[in-house]
Amino acid sequence: MNETLIRLEGIQKVFDRDGAKLDVLRSIDLSVERGEMAAIVGPSGAGKSTLLHLMGTLDLPTSGSIRYAGREVTGLSANALARFRNEHIGFVFQFHHLLPDFDALENVMMPGFIRGESRKTLEPRARELLDAIGLAHRATHRPSELSGGEQQRVALARALIMRPDVILADEPTGNLDSVTSERMNDLFFEINERFETTFVIVTHSRELASRLPRVIRMRDGEIEGEDRAPAPNARIGRGDEEKEDTPEDGGGDGA
Ligand SMILES: Nc1ncnc2c1ncn2[C@@H]1O[C@H](COP(=O)(O)OP(=O)(O)OP(=O)(O)O)[C@@H](O)[C@H]1O
Ligand SMILES: [Mg+2]
Repeated sequence: MNETLIRLEGIQKVFDRDGAKLDVLRSIDLSVERGEMAAIVGPSGAGKSTLLHLMGTLDLPTSGSIRYAGREVTGLSANALARFRNEHIGFVFQFHHLLPDFDALENVMMPGFIRGESRKTLEPRARELLDAIGLAHRATHRPSELSGGEQQRVALARALIMRPDVILADEPTGNLDSVTSERMNDLFFEINERFETTFVIVTHSRELASRLPRVIRMRDGEIEGEDRAPAPNARIGRGDEEKEDTPEDGGGDGA
């Protein structure tokens, strides 16, 4: 069952820098299907984060259309967009911005509080998510009492609390060591399987990109091409297993 969740058409983004026009995105067309896991890769400055921000309605394109499940979002007011994001989109960035004065459980519930939901409705969901990310035993820890990888997992749980259709992640493992990164990457697959959450992940990690069934390659504000694997052979959470050799020569854009 293929259903287009996000559809970008003719997306252009021009930034104005002291009167000079910067064409950062030039005519991007892209569809993301519900439930799919896609990477966006490409050299620094290619426009990956800019594109992800537009997908997340954090910024609006200079021209072009962005539709979520068929609904055009570019014309919505700032308030309507904020509400739309809160309901449909989860974000995971390199720097997680957890609130230091709240514990892990409260941080996970925060988007729900912002939405006016009660602790009573949120807490069971938050606990389920903490359990899913392996941090049930850290519920009452504040961010300063968690490791970097644990903090990033809490940020993922927070992104999931409103049951978003899609998680948009920008370098989610950018400041984690390789073992912790791999654990985090495993978690993306587990969450995708368990909650059918769509993932779009901007990454410089070849390890992660090689595991994702779809890799969108960007360069100079354009989509240069993409690679699709017939089926993800990246299975979940098998850290102790010998790695199969993956066909990772081919298609790399080795900056
Ligand atoms: N607010 C802005 N104003 C002006 N130029 C911007 C703005 N945001 C981004 N740019 C420019 O747009 C281009 C693309 O930036 P973007 O952050 O999307 O790149 P990226 O592909 O995410 O790179 P990286 O891998 O380094 O994160 C860069 O040249 C950047 O300088
Ligand atoms: Mg970036």
